[in-house]
Amino acid sequence: MNSIQVFSSKQELANAAALQSITQLSEAIEEYGHAAWVIAGGSTPELAYSVIAKNYLDDIDWSKVTIIIGDERIALFDSNDSNWKHANEILLRHIPQAVLHRPISSMNAETAADDYESVLNTLPKTSQNFPRFDLVWLGMGEDGHTLSLFPNHPGFTPTDRLVIPIHDSPKPPSDRVTLTLHALQGAETTIILAAGAGKAEALKVAQSPDNDLPIAQAARLTNADWLIDQDAAANL
Ligand code: 6PG
Repeated sequence: MNSIQVFSSKQELANAAALQSITQLSEAIEEYGHAAWVIAGGSTPELAYSVIAKNYLDDIDWSKVTIIIGDERIALFDSNDSNWKHANEILLRHIPQAVLHRPISSMNAETAADDYESVLNTLPKTSQNFPRFDLVWLGMGEDGHTLSLFPNHPGFTPTDRLVIPIHDSPKPPSDRVTLTLHALQGAETTIILAAGAGKAEALKVAQSPDNDLPIAQAARLTNADWLIDQDAAANL
């Protein structure tokens, strides 16, 4: 793990995540002429999306940014279950110049996963031939899941797929598509956003070097920076 930054409030965490992300996207555009950002689902990132929408729309040439989402629920686009819907309402609708790729979440999980995998394979690659993700945001569940990779779930097994379908998710809704740990090998900079007392136990456990929670494996694999609030840091 690269660093753990503890913030006094969710707003301070969001402010920092937004600023660090804009800096990272700008640097990637400078270096590659383009940037790919994997946004996160769940509620924690939403405050940071709103900080970007409020303060940074003019700081980036968004036409040079491709945005994908790390995981999505199988739900209609306008369903409250849709991660993309929430990110769109808060931020994405303000940056129509960006190249947006979302899973076809109205289809079944297998079809949506296959389609999304083929989309990711069109992105610029790293020297190891993975889609290059210049910036990855990850959330973390209270059970230590990230994306839609859940501990002790049959879907969380080694794979050389970039995207897999998930059924019987312990966090509703049941059916999802998710990036895999394999896909995260293309991550250049990864930020884990975790806030609230409910995350404190899993966050503590995930720091041990041999912990096998999905978030722990993702953090080690990507050398992620943790951006957490004081409540989530309570057990550190
Ligand atoms: C999802 C999310 C999920 C989320 C964590 C944290 O589809 O549910 O991608 O992995 O990031 O569950 O969610 P909160 O930020 O709402 O606590």
